[in-house]
Amino acid sequence: KPRIFSGIQPSGGLTLGNYLGALRRFAGFQGTGPETIYCVVDLHAITVWQDPAELTRRTRELAAAYLASGVDPEQSILFNQSQVPAHAELAWLFNCVARLGWMNRMTQFKDKAGKNSENVSLGLYAYPSLMAADILTYHATAVPVGEDQKQHVELTRDIAAKFNHDYGTEFFPAPEPLIEGSATRVMSLRDGSKKMSKSDPSDASRINLTDDADTITQKIRKARTDAEPLPATFEGLKDRPEARNLVNIYSALTDEPVNAVLGRFEGQGFGTFKPALAEVAVEVLAPITAKMTQFMADPAEIDRILGKGADRAHAIAHPIVERTKEIMGMIRSR
Ligand code: TYM
Repeated sequence: KPRIFSGIQPSGGLTLGNYLGALRRFAGFQGTGPETIYCVVDLHAITVWQDPAELTRRTRELAAAYLASGVDPEQSILFNQSQVPAHAELAWLFNCVARLGWMNRMTQFKDKAGKNSENVSLGLYAYPSLMAADILTYHATAVPVGEDQKQHVELTRDIAAKFNHDYGTEFFPAPEPLIEGSATRVMSLRDGSKKMSKSDPSDASRINLTDDADTITQKIRKARTDAEPLPATFEGLKDRPEARNLVNIYSALTDEPVNAVLGRFEGQGFGTFKPALAEVAVEVLAPITAKMTQFMADPAEIDRILGKGADRAHAIAHPIVERTKEIMGMIRSR
């Protein structure tokens, strides 16, 4: 049975990268056949220290963002990871399947740990094993994510294959990453070689889902670019990472092919393009931000939705973890 799973960390404000690369695509899978399961991955967030009150607030804010972007808690399962014990349990089992060498190759770990890797949490290192558990405890078949998560989904496939091989079973299906559209890797507004990220120290490098119209317009106006006019086709942006990024963002926001966007702006400079981009960004984001604020006004309702989602998630995930333990030879007698 086809099943879609994806998750987002409540570890900071959401960026335009999170929105265009992932969040915005989630609602569209509803009603197309596969079951859709969307998660606020609070267990992943704590791999880096989180202030408890802030974690609570950001969990609700992220749930509000899912709802505001069209995820319907009747059509989809929406919940926070820590309310479903299967995730942490299966992660342990996978810790014993995954190899240290695999973890050592994870580029996100290397980026996050930096040079001082002796002093990061053990959880940060094991992070991809928990992500494999998120996906495989639902036997999910497809995982919509941005480009930066591709390596983790591939590792999930490796863990599934090694488990199946080691225990002589075909229990775990191999999930496909779904990385689609012109915004699979939204770059920093200050540096076209860096990903737009909630952890970048410069707030000017990103657009946050909670930024107001003036802030969005200012940030786009100050975004780094070059002095050339826009070319007729995408080919012409090959060696212009900052320009390419802004055109990709425009294309994703308006759901137009990149070459259609360039068709209209060919020969124009950023003095024309940036205000046009700011206008479409505000047009798309303002209603989302407004809906988020509405949902945030009723935290009890958000908590109720997450709890109900967790019950439904548990009903799927628990039997799969139980069966996994049984396959491994663990006695189930209660
Ligand atoms: P996270 O919370 O960093 O990001 C959430 C989603 O946003 C995408 N994304 C981007 N897409 C395009 N351009 C960008 N600049 C950009 N920045 C972030 C990410 O690719 C992701 O899809 N490990 C995951 C969370 C996770 C997960 C899972 C995802 C945990 N378990 C199971 C899928 C399935 C993460 O840290 O995403």
